[in-house]
Amino acid sequence: MRTIITSRRSCASKPACRDETGRSAAARGAEPFGLQAQTPTVNLDESLVPEYVLPDPLTCRSGERIADTAAWRTVRRPELLALFESEVYGKAPGAPEGLHFEVLSEDRYALSNMATRKEVAIYFTDDEQHAMTLLIYLPNKRTGAVPLFLGLNFKGNHTICDDPLITESVSRMKPREEGGSEVRIPGFPRAAAASRWPVEMLIANGYGLATVYRGDIDPDYDDGFRNGVHPLFYREGQTRPDADEWGTLAAWAWGLSRAMDYFETDEDVDASRVAVVGHSRHGKTALWAAAADERFAMAVSNDSGCGGAALSRRCFGETVERINRVFPHWFCANFKRYANDEAALPVDQHELVALVAPRPVYIASAAEDLWADPRGEYLSGVYATPVYELYGLQGLYGEQLPATDEPRMTGAIGYHVRSGAHDITAYDWQQFVRFADKHLKNN
Ligand code: GCU
Repeated sequence: MRTIITSRRSCASKPACRDETGRSAAARGAEPFGLQAQTPTVNLDESLVPEYVLPDPLTCRSGERIADTAAWRTVRRPELLALFESEVYGKAPGAPEGLHFEVLSEDRYALSNMATRKEVAIYFTDDEQHAMTLLIYLPNKRTGAVPLFLGLNFKGNHTICDDPLITESVSRMKPREEGGSEVRIPGFPRAAAASRWPVEMLIANGYGLATVYRGDIDPDYDDGFRNGVHPLFYREGQTRPDADEWGTLAAWAWGLSRAMDYFETDEDVDASRVAVVGHSRHGKTALWAAAADERFAMAVSNDSGCGGAALSRRCFGETVERINRVFPHWFCANFKRYANDEAALPVDQHELVALVAPRPVYIASAAEDLWADPRGEYLSGVYATPVYELYGLQGLYGEQLPATDEPRMTGAIGYHVRSGAHDITAYDWQQFVRFADKHLKNN
């Protein structure tokens, strides 16, 4: 293991920071309900990144060194997983007792007869009062069960493409006013997010696509954990998750695992070849989902930034302090303790990437998306590499950020930094498919 830099200064002690987010107003507008108004002091200058020491993924808290995959699997991996659970994302429950599925519709004439569209209700309770709707497209040209990409969408299932027969996601809610009751707000137009979901391209390449609206699992704002799945698991008298219990990102990841529960029952889907993918907050979620649930065969993080692939200790772009302040519901309450004190974190995000090993993981950045710290995202892959090497696999090498638009995918950790801004584009998906072709197909 290389020695990684030396002092323990945290970003609170940085000499000077600039007051800007580095994101367009439109991108910041993606944040819920005006919280972006609290513009933090952030550093976007590489020369001001503090010196830091990363925890070594192959050294246990006890000091024991991990030298083989058996010790990784039985000792260090469980230790790291437990730390990420209790200190970062929060512990999630398993599948609920009442979990059951209903195929609501199946249409083999979708997308000009190229695909089969299914909509599946995934009920979390026997009484069917709590459910998420899984939208699935499968290529009609297939000889057996297909591999697929699974990801959350921001604005509703009906926004991912211009198929008029997708059922509109209606569970988008917001509080009328602080502490007030919820009201439904008008949904987004059909196909509003089509540029982010190249359904036809995936179908043409032999992949299925499945997606869930995040609001079906837990609406994306801080309501004290009353309106999502959390209350279904409260013990008697509990009114919100404990400090080490799941926040919203872990709830979304939990929902992705429930989609996986369904895939295991669908003979058209090869549940052993599901890639979990996500952009931005959903990229954070995709990494955590793959770390926590080893049934996912591959993970793709797109512009996931702070709390995703980016190293927290670099304090570049969004910081632990800022993300906890603006999105207090995303992580577990314990994570707030590390605001301006990243050096005290018992983990860093390269170890999240390492938890995906030996399964392939792809990290994508955008050159103008400094808020998500492209270099910090890349370095997570570099510093996760020793764990992949234990398995005889290659990862990423060299501390220099790869050239823009020159993907690296020779090993089990892939990476690219695309030109342009914070987004998930056709170019990004083309690289994910190339990478998946190497790892999820027998060619
Ligand atoms: C905000 C937030 C990021 C997040 C992004 C998104 O910019 O600060 O952490 O990744 O929203 O999900 O779009």
